[in-house]
Amino acid sequence: MISNDTKPPISLVKLAHSLIKAKIKSDDSVIDATVGNGHDTLFLLELVGAKGKVFGFDIQEAAIDSVRAILQGTSLLECLTLIQASHAKMGENIPPSYHSKISAVMFNLGYLPGGDKRIITQTDSTLAALSCASQMLITNGIITVLAYPGHEGGEIETDQVKRWCLALDPEHYQVKLFESQPDKTSAPKLFAITKTR
Ligand SMILES: C[S@@+](CC[C@H](N)C(=O)[O-])C[C@H]1O[C@@H](n2cnc3c(N)ncnc32)[C@H](O)[C@@H]1O
Repeated sequence: MISNDTKPPISLVKLAHSLIKAKIKSDDSVIDATVGNGHDTLFLLELVGAKGKVFGFDIQEAAIDSVRAILQGTSLLECLTLIQASHAKMGENIPPSYHSKISAVMFNLGYLPGGDKRIITQTDSTLAALSCASQMLITNGIITVLAYPGHEGGEIETDQVKRWCLALDPEHYQVKLFESQPDKTSAPKLFAITKTR
């Protein structure tokens, strides 16, 4: 079951950040499944602090390189492992000692703002990554998925993410859907999936 939390127009990025902030303690381990320009990566690094761990995935070398360059020479880089690979491969790229101990996984789907709009998240790998992420979570951990039905392919991807959420075992996962503009089907949607037990 998905409970629908309709809000007046708000930034779903800010909402995703506040939902994650409510769940994370310093020294937690988290995943940014779509590094892009690194805004979410930086947010997560600041939340988990010097003893925490952030794994960041992106298929684009440019995204990984630019985030590494931004953080070069800062202590934040020591807590970050950047992985140029599909988030669908997170299971094999994250050391087993972190499995089932991840407190948050952030997905910001679509294309890199200011980048090549042809390089875009794909439904199949997004669903594979979500399955993997749900198994990586610690109890009370959270996955946020910001989905954009407004761009080409985005409507199918958003719909499939919703179906994936609906198929989750309600004994173990709670799902909330946030829509800033519920009357506009092409407007972004935020799914927040919490592992309850
Ligand atoms: C909307 S952007 C992410 C924005 C980012 N979170 C930020 O704060 O700037 C989406 C990113 O997903 C990446 N991406 C696309 N397919 C991917 C995949 N299978 N695995 C990991 N990243 C992927 C794109 O390269 C792009 O950088």
